[in-house]
Amino acid sequence: MASSNPSLKPVPPYHRREIRDEILQLKHVIESQQFTVPLLMELFQRSRGMERVVARGGTLEYQNKILASLFYQASTRTRFCFEAAMYRLGGKVLSTEQASIFSSEISGEHLEDSIRILANYADVIVVRHLHAGGAERAADVSAVPIINAGDGDGGQHPTQALLDLYTIYRERPLGGLSVAIIGELDRGRTARSLAYLLAKFERVKIFFVAPPELQMKPDILAYLEEHGVRYELESEIDRVIREVDVVYLTRIRPERVTNERGAKRYAVDSELLRKMKSDALILHPLPRTVELDRTVDDDPRALYFRQAANGLYVRMALLTMLLDKN
Ligand code: CP
Repeated sequence: MASSNPSLKPVPPYHRREIRDEILQLKHVIESQQFTVPLLMELFQRSRGMERVVARGGTLEYQNKILASLFYQASTRTRFCFEAAMYRLGGKVLSTEQASIFSSEISGEHLEDSIRILANYADVIVVRHLHAGGAERAADVSAVPIINAGDGDGGQHPTQALLDLYTIYRERPLGGLSVAIIGELDRGRTARSLAYLLAKFERVKIFFVAPPELQMKPDILAYLEEHGVRYELESEIDRVIREVDVVYLTRIRPERVTNERGAKRYAVDSELLRKMKSDALILHPLPRTVELDRTVDDDPRALYFRQAANGLYVRMALLTMLLDKN
């Protein structure tokens, strides 16, 4: 599938002052509900621009800016991606990949104190915390923008959802999409963040596909109902796979699935590929376990490696929004 999409809709001409006000109000990025449709369109327009910036090797525009990445959980994509984004913008990076060990928190220092200290050294702090609510705690005491890079099981991962949505947006209009979100949804922070974003678009329908004990939590379902978004809870992939435009797979740990067919029941493989729409989009935030067979990788509908690449553009664009006003 080509990376440029001739059917890509032009960004609507939202009023610049409204956008500017929204950007000014965007102090921290903690949850995806913070993003309005105009703000998303602005972000995506900037992300398109960043594709061109990266193609020419980057810019030095942010050479006086420093990003600190404070990760309490392992990460391949998010941490390296944010750090690469800052370097491509010309900025510099302070980093610890295992903050619980390689920081004074090993001697009992609290997250809040770590943030207060780092805010003296960096212009923006990217935090992946062990517990839901960790990023918000950081934001409460931070003098510089905090970006939530994933907080706990069942928290959020808003920048993952932004790049997920950008990947879909690059391929087709977002209104009227039918999306299957599949996996361990009760603890799925990427699934939760994406559901909030999809809810902002007209005529979207979401199928949450998971074993009943791992289904999406009531807070998200209540939000969708409140916003008039259609959704269904489903436990069998086969019942939805033929009709959806987007197959959004998330990790499913075999040890959390109790039925006899196990996690494989929620996996996409060559057999399931044959049942999907010919123009379906297959996304996965990665890393994968058994739910995404490697035989899928060569299928033109598989977008997950491009999705990871898009993260660079979206995170560069997001950093410019947060840094331009400081
Ligand atoms: N998608 C994602 O958050 O991946 P990492 O855990 O590697 O950052």
